[in-house]
Amino acid sequence: MKDLIKALPKAELHLHIEGSLEPELMFELSKRNNIKIPYKTVEEVKAAYNFTNLQSFLDIYYAGANVLITKQDFYDMTWEYILKCKEDNVIHTEIFFDPQTHTQRGIAFETVISGIKEALDEAKKQFGITSEIIMCFLRHLSQEEAFETLNQSLAYKNNIIGVGLDSSELGNPPKKFEEVFKKAKNEGFKLVAHAGEEGDVSYIEDALDLLQIQRIDHGVQAINSETLMKRLKDEQIPLTVCPNSNIELKVFENYKEHNIKELLDFGLNITVNSDDPAYFKGYMNQNFYNLCDNLPLSKEDIIKLVKNSFKSAFISDKLKEEYL
Ligand code: HPA
Ligand code: ZN
Repeated sequence: MKDLIKALPKAELHLHIEGSLEPELMFELSKRNNIKIPYKTVEEVKAAYNFTNLQSFLDIYYAGANVLITKQDFYDMTWEYILKCKEDNVIHTEIFFDPQTHTQRGIAFETVISGIKEALDEAKKQFGITSEIIMCFLRHLSQEEAFETLNQSLAYKNNIIGVGLDSSELGNPPKKFEEVFKKAKNEGFKLVAHAGEEGDVSYIEDALDLLQIQRIDHGVQAINSETLMKRLKDEQIPLTVCPNSNIELKVFENYKEHNIKELLDFGLNITVNSDDPAYFKGYMNQNFYNLCDNLPLSKEDIIKLVKNSFKSAFISDKLKEEYL
């Protein structure tokens, strides 16, 4: 099975580029930029990655991003992720970034997007890896701040295919961002949102109905509503499921408890993704390995999951045909 997973060309649709910042690079950047981090060694950093829920991760994740200052820093982080894509045979990736995590610290939008974009251009040139960029609004901040970010992004519209919604889900429901998503849609952006990671079924339904999203990030709580399950199946709305993340953030107790096989068997359009691989112990292939080690996934299931990612990617029909 491992050989099959390795050999299959894959697409990734749920990856936060800030979540690909490995401890080693975090140390290097903290030295380069003279920014203090609360750890002495890489081992100490890894020991701190012991999460109890989404918020306990986010606190550490936003602190880690403080070392990112220059365009070169964003380039280096993105390039390291691209090397992992190469290793794992990920040939297309749609990456999230969180502009507000950086603009709030006084880093220019331009610095962030240009560093990421240049690394992705180089990935296409050197390895033929194709990519898209999706910017996420931080849902613990206000809709007004999301509007500011959307306005800033308009100058870089050519380089940003869509908008998403991430950060603390509970207490920050989709409705809070209804207007800004409406504007993003009018501007021609594709729409996605994290929903049903920790939040209940209503977060998924509202993301679909109020925000008009085209893909659901996570979405594993859908299992709690038969009506929603039927809708997701009928409309083949993609769910970008992140197994390692769900285990590390205690959405499920262990891999054997994960519901991905049930979701897939019901007929949903399920994909596998790594979310924040530097924090959740592994990149794309490791997510597949962990599933296969613990759940009765068949060879056909693996192929289906991989095909679903290409089917659900924001790429032209021509490129889809080429990849499928
Ligand atoms: N959920 C919400 N926000 C995030 C995540 C996640 O899994 N990863 C990075 N930001
Ligand atoms: Zn995520």
